[in-house]
Amino acid sequence: MPTRDDGIRATNQDFIRYEGVDKRQSYHLAEADDEQFDEELQVRICDMRAPTFARDLGDALREIGFAILDGHGVDPALYDEAEARVLEMFRRLTLEEKMRFRAQRHGSINQGYFPIKETSNMHPDLVEGWVFCRRAFERPRDFWPDAGNAAFFEQIVRAHERLILPIMQALLTYLGCDAHLYDAKLTGTNFGLRLNYYPPMSDGDDASGAARLLGHEDVDLFTFLPAPRTEGLQILNRRNMKWVRMDAPRGTIILNSGDYMQRISNDIFPSTTHRVSKPRDPAQRRATRVSFPMAVYVWEEELLEVLPCIESPKYPPVKAIEFHTGITSKFYGDDYAVKSSKLSALSSQEKPGEQKGGSPES
Ligand SMILES: [Fe+2]
Repeated sequence: MPTRDDGIRATNQDFIRYEGVDKRQSYHLAEADDEQFDEELQVRICDMRAPTFARDLGDALREIGFAILDGHGVDPALYDEAEARVLEMFRRLTLEEKMRFRAQRHGSINQGYFPIKETSNMHPDLVEGWVFCRRAFERPRDFWPDAGNAAFFEQIVRAHERLILPIMQALLTYLGCDAHLYDAKLTGTNFGLRLNYYPPMSDGDDASGAARLLGHEDVDLFTFLPAPRTEGLQILNRRNMKWVRMDAPRGTIILNSGDYMQRISNDIFPSTTHRVSKPRDPAQRRATRVSFPMAVYVWEEELLEVLPCIESPKYPPVKAIEFHTGITSKFYGDDYAVKSSKLSALSSQEKPGEQKGGSPES
């Protein structure tokens, strides 16, 4: 049985059997000594108000799987307050108080609190995390340690929810599909808001070789990440296998496509590898880092199938819960995967819209 510390030396290819889309890129889960950096590639800034938005966003995701959203209309003061609240919440609560909300699987998603070095079984990530899905906002008392933060972070998810359809419509337009194909599926869809608290690194943590957050690809359709203040996010350019240091202006939102999107777009929009590295400046390693990405999913009963406007599909249709938990069982253990007995009965004629439904557990 591999341990988390083995993950400091592991590569993604050690876990490739779990993947639900093509991932030929090979990289160490932690940072390695022999890596190269791409100083040329600039992730595109896409203004949501521009008439060329669909083309700009499609080109950005097609090229690298990441874009920077501007003109999104979300008040940047919300992001400043969110950062302060994450710091306050993780510092105020004792480990015992946080562990009362320890993460468990609800539907497709492992939801709740993740202690430091326990984000996954693969690697000892130097971060504490806390994931809140839609049900956490419907039943805040069951999922939030206090009502004030539940109410505040609901404003963030509502603001980001307003961006979901415009983003999806832009991508469908870019691909030549009916722009509204996913409107129903994504109205009231599930999401995961993840609060990340990266404490100051101790000398021991620094020397261990562990990453702040291991190299990975997001499993979702796409992720909104309000530009963090502290250096760390790096993305892997598959064309040259060099790492790109993300540097997005404050107030913008970093958007990246995930495994669901790579699957339905037949690999046109890649699920790009990214990680959180240690800051280069040793002084910054002693500082706390905060981020709060929001992952957008389809409900677990939906089918993920290659979009009808794309010829020669590489992938058969798959139920979202099976796809999702099959991949994330690399993080949480083989027992985590949900096998759908119904899956074999599904045919490509079946319309995913007919499978509409809430999460089975809510
Ligand atoms: Fe991620």
